Parts: sequence; structure tokens; C-alpha cells
Amino acid sequence: MYVPPKTLTNDDLAKMVDTTDSWISTRTGIKVRHVAEPGTGTSELCLEASRRALADAGVDPKELDFVVVGTLTPDMPFPSTACFVQMGLGAAQAYAMDLGAACSGFIYSLSVADALIRSGRGKKGLVVGGEILSSVVDYTDRSTCILFGDGAGAVVLAECEEGEGVLSCHLHSDGNLWELIHCPGGGTIDPCNPGTSTVRTNFIKMLGNETFKHAVTRMAEVSLEALERNGVGVEDVALFIPHQANQRIVSAVGKRMGVPEKKVFMNLERYGNTSAASIPIALAEAKSQGRYSKGDLVLLVAFGGGLTWGSALLRM
Ligand SMILES: CC(C)(COP(=O)(O)OP(=O)(O)OC[C@H]1O[C@@H](n2cnc3c(N)ncnc32)[C@H](O)[C@@H]1OP(=O)(O)O)[C@@H](O)C(=O)NCCC(=O)NCCS
Repeated sequence: MYVPPKTLTNDDLAKMVDTTDSWISTRTGIKVRHVAEPGTGTSELCLEASRRALADAGVDPKELDFVVVGTLTPDMPFPSTACFVQMGLGAAQAYAMDLGAACSGFIYSLSVADALIRSGRGKKGLVVGGEILSSVVDYTDRSTCILFGDGAGAVVLAECEEGEGVLSCHLHSDGNLWELIHCPGGGTIDPCNPGTSTVRTNFIKMLGNETFKHAVTRMAEVSLEALERNGVGVEDVALFIPHQANQRIVSAVGKRMGVPEKKVFMNLERYGNTSAASIPIALAEAKSQGRYSKGDLVLLVAFGGGLTWGSALLRM
């Protein structure tokens, strides 16, 4: 994982919009988020996270067959952020692509990477989630600017025996609910132009309350789907790693599923919602903190704009 060094505390935000540390902490669980310097490419964060993942796995970039980057904040419309990561790593044999599934971007990317390996389109790949959400956050809108942060996380995925690694992935979408969380500007409908930033269409728009309800229902459903598919129960899972959106969302999901709090990994307090980066950042921290052991079952679950949601059950 990698996050840019600069931080934005709740007190910093309270100087920018009408809010308080206590409101943000109570309603979200977030205390601090990291933000990149303006003009930074998301690929720079992805590259550093990828180098760390490759070093940890003892894999040379030249062994990689593919690079998949989940992001909603690419360096530019094209080429893909993944191509910049591939170039930076010198992963000469790897094909590279981005995947857009908003905050579910890492699980979607993991699912695609898993399918690529299973179908023989590569033996070893890099799966990355990276975002510079500060580039699409409206720092005059107190209902959204408090939530989001920047960062990247990466994993090396390689061929393994059946029953190890990614056991199953479960993906869902509902485009009917696209308006709940979206960024209207910067695409073909409303291309970037000098007027865009004055009408603020190039920033995240969100109906927080509605999004909250769908997040709780869908994350619980898709977690249970993964457990049922694999014939295991909550008690068999060593660690649950949810997308870090809001402490109250995660608590409500945990309560619905009967997951004890100590089995749920949280680091939201220090990073905020980093969208596609949140799960791989959490995975990296869970690993370094010894929160799971070899052979353990770990359940990943995410929810995001689209709407999109998904889960993956891993045998570590
Ligand atoms: C955004 C979120 C924290 C707002 O919390 P909430 O409890 O739903 O609060 P509401 O939107 O109902 O707003 C309640 C009040 O707080 C106010 N408020 C909103 N943001 C505020 C802030 N940062 N500081 C102080 N007050 C704030 C609202 O204006 C509203 O005031 P009003 O009652 O006078 O109209 C919450 O809805 C949320 O986390 N939603 C999910 C968002 C998410 O995770 N998105 C990403 C999904 S991947």
C-alpha cells in the first residue's frame, strides 16, 4: 500500500466548511485522510504500492503477464493508468487495462484477474486499486468532502492449487441507481471545459442517506452469497475486510450478519473512503499486523457508485 504524505484532518476541514471534528467522527468514524499534491497522477501512487507488493511477493516485474488497475480517477481519459504502471515497473511482458467500478473497483479487478488466470490468459498478474479522489471532491460541499481520501494498494495474483487463493467472486450492478453517487462532468455528456469547474459538475455528487441504506443491504447480501457458495459460515472466516466507507455502514452490516467486531478489519479512521484503494490498503495493513495466517479464510466485500457491489472469499 501507499498513501501520499500530506494529511487533511477533521479540524482542517472545519476551517473549510461548516462542520466539526465531533460531527465527522460520530457520523462516519473518520479522523484523517491523505491527499496528493495537485497534479499528481494516480499511477504514481499505484506504482509505489505495486513496487511494495512485488517486493513482498518476491516477484520480478518482468514475470507479470498483466496489470489491472481499478480506479475512478485515472491519470487521464487515455491511455489507461495501468499502462503508466506497466511502464513504470518495466513490466515488459504485461498487458495492461483499467477497470471502472467505483468503490467496488478492486473486487471487480480481482475477479477479472482471477478469471484471466483460470482461463489461461496469464499465470501471474498485478491487481491494483488506486485513487486520487481529492481531484473530484468538492471542498465546498460538507456532505461529501469529509468522506474521501487518496491512496493505492496492490496485490500479486498467481496461479495456485484449487481450494487456495481466490475461492469465488460475486459481482452485481444496478445502473438504475446511478444518480445516488456520481460525477457528472468530465465525460462525453459534459466534457471538461473552462466552464465545468465554475458549475462544479466535475465533482462527486451524492445522496448520502439513500446510498447508506443500499450499502448496508447489498454488502450483507453479497457477503452471505460468498459464504453460501462455499458452504462456510461466519464462524469459519478469520477476517472480514469491508470497503471502508463509513463505520456505521460496516457496523450495521456486521450486525446483520452476526460478525463479531474483532473479526472486522477497520482503518477508515486514518484514511477515509479511498474507493477502489480501500480494500487492498486494508489487506496490506491486515497482513503486516498479523490479522490472518496462512490457510485462513478472508472475506472481502465492497459497494460503490454504479451502483456496483461484490465480494470475494480468499484462502490466504
Ligand atoms: C454522508 C453521511 C455521513 C451523512 O450522514 P447522515 O447521518 O446521513 O446525515 P444527513 O445527510 O441525514 O444530514 C443530517 C444533517 O447533517 C448535516 N450535515 C451534512 N454533512 C455535514 C457535516 N460534514 N457537518 C455537519 N453537518 C453536516 C446535513 O446538512 C443535515 O442537516 P439538516 O438536518 O439541517 O438538513 C452518510 O449519509 C453516509 O455516510 N452515507 C454513505 C456515503 C458513502 O459511504 N458513500 C460512498 C459509498 S461507496
